[in-house]
Amino acid sequence: MSNLQEKKQREQWSSRLGFVLAAAGSAIGLGNLWRFPYMAGQNGGGAFVAVYLGLLVLVGFTIMLAELTLGRYTQLNAIGAYKKISEKWAWVGALGVLAGFMILSFYSVVGGWVINYVIKALTGAFNTADMDALGGMFGSMITNPFSPIFYHAIFMILTLGIVLGGIKGGIEKYSKILMPALFVMLFAIMLRSVTLPGAMEGVKYFLVPDWNAIDGGVILAALGQVFFSLSLGMGCMVTYGSYIKKDENLLKSALSVPLLDTGAALLAGLAILPAVFAFGFDPAEGPGLVFVTLPAVFSQMPLGGLFGVAFFLLVLFAALTSAISLLEVVVAYVIDEWKWTRKKATLVIAGVIFLVGVPASLSIGPWSGFHILPNMGIFDTLDFISGKVLLPLGGMLLAIFLGWVWGMENAIKEATNDGKLNFALAGVWTILIKYIAPVAIAVVFVQGIISTFF
Ligand code: PHE
Repeated sequence: MSNLQEKKQREQWSSRLGFVLAAAGSAIGLGNLWRFPYMAGQNGGGAFVAVYLGLLVLVGFTIMLAELTLGRYTQLNAIGAYKKISEKWAWVGALGVLAGFMILSFYSVVGGWVINYVIKALTGAFNTADMDALGGMFGSMITNPFSPIFYHAIFMILTLGIVLGGIKGGIEKYSKILMPALFVMLFAIMLRSVTLPGAMEGVKYFLVPDWNAIDGGVILAALGQVFFSLSLGMGCMVTYGSYIKKDENLLKSALSVPLLDTGAALLAGLAILPAVFAFGFDPAEGPGLVFVTLPAVFSQMPLGGLFGVAFFLLVLFAALTSAISLLEVVVAYVIDEWKWTRKKATLVIAGVIFLVGVPASLSIGPWSGFHILPNMGIFDTLDFISGKVLLPLGGMLLAIFLGWVWGMENAIKEATNDGKLNFALAGVWTILIKYIAPVAIAVVFVQGIISTFF
C-alpha cells in the first residue's frame, strides 16, 4: 500500500475537544491517582512536588509539544515517524514501543487491583478507618497467587475491547463523559480529606518543600513521574498527534493537556496525603497508599459506601483510557509497519502483554523473594526500567532528534500550521529542545542512577 493511500485511510479525531479529552484521558490515569501520591510520599512530599513542577515546566510542556508536532507532521506511529525523517533513528521509536509494552504489563496488574476494589466497595468492605485492617485487606489481595491475575485478565480484556473499536468509536466517546466526573469526585474527596482532624500536617507535608530532602534519587523519581504521568517519552503522544487534523492548534493542546494532568495529580495528592497523616499511616508506605488510605476516608464520609463505589469505578475508567493509549502505541506500530489487521494486532499483543504481567503480579506475592535488580522484583524492575530509564531516555533522544536531526525550523513550521499561528515562545522552545532538555535529562538520569544503586 502506498504511503498516500495509507494517509487517506488514517482515522482522525472529530474535533479539537475530542483530541484534548482523549490525550488528557491518556495522561490522567493510575500515574496521577496511584503513582504520584505514593511517589511523593516516598520522596519527601513537598520536595518531590516542587521538583516535579519545575521539571514539568522545563521538560514536560516542551516534550509534549515536540511529540505532538512530530506525530502530526509524519501522520505515523512512534517508529514510522522517526523512520520517515531518518531511517537511522527508528530504534528510538522502537525503545518507546518497548516501554509501552512493559508499562502496560504492570499497569494492567494495578488496573486489576482497582477492579477488585470496585467489588470490595460494592460489598461494603470500607466500613472502617482502622489502618491495620485496611492494610491487611490490601496486603492479602495483592499477595494472593490467583485473584490478582484473574482481575489483571479482566482489565486487559476491557482494554482490548476498547482498542478494537478503533479511534473515534472507542477512545473519544468514553473520555468525554468520564474525565470531568473524575475531577468532581476527586475534589469532593480532597475536601473531606483536608478537613479530617490532624490533616493539616499532611497538607504541609505535601505542599511545603523540605529542600534538604532533595537528592539525585528524588529528582530522577520526579523526572520519571513527569514522563509517566504525561504519557511522554514512548511515542504515545506521537501516535495520538498523528490523528490530529492539520488545521488544529497544537500549541494550545500542548499546554492544556499537561495542565489538566497536573491538576489531577495535585488533587489526588491532596486527597490522599492529608488523610495519611490524619489516620497515622506512613506516607512512604508505597504502592498500597491509595488503596489503604481512601477507604478510610470514605468511612468518614456521609454515603461513603456509595462514594467509594463511584470513585473506584472512575479510577478504573481513568486507568482504562490510559491503558488503551499504551496498547494503541504498540498496535498502531504493528498495523502500520507489519500491515496486520487491527483485530489481529490487538488480540495478539494484548495476549502477550497479559502473559508478561502474570509474573509481575506473582512477584508481589508468592515470588516476592526473587529479585532481578537489587531489591527489585519483576514488578518493580518493569516499573524502574520503563519509568526511570526508557521514558527519560526516550524524551532526551526525541529532543535531540527534533533539535538536531529534523531541525527546529521544520518543527516550528509544523507546530504553527505553516506559520499561521502566533508562537511567541518559539525561541524559548528551541533553546529548551536543543540544549536544556537533553542536558537536564542526561544529568538527572546519571545522578539518579548513581544514587539509586551506589
Ligand atoms: N500517563 C498514564 C498515567 O498517568 C500512563 C501512561 C504512560 C500512558 C505512558 C501512556 C504512556 O496513568
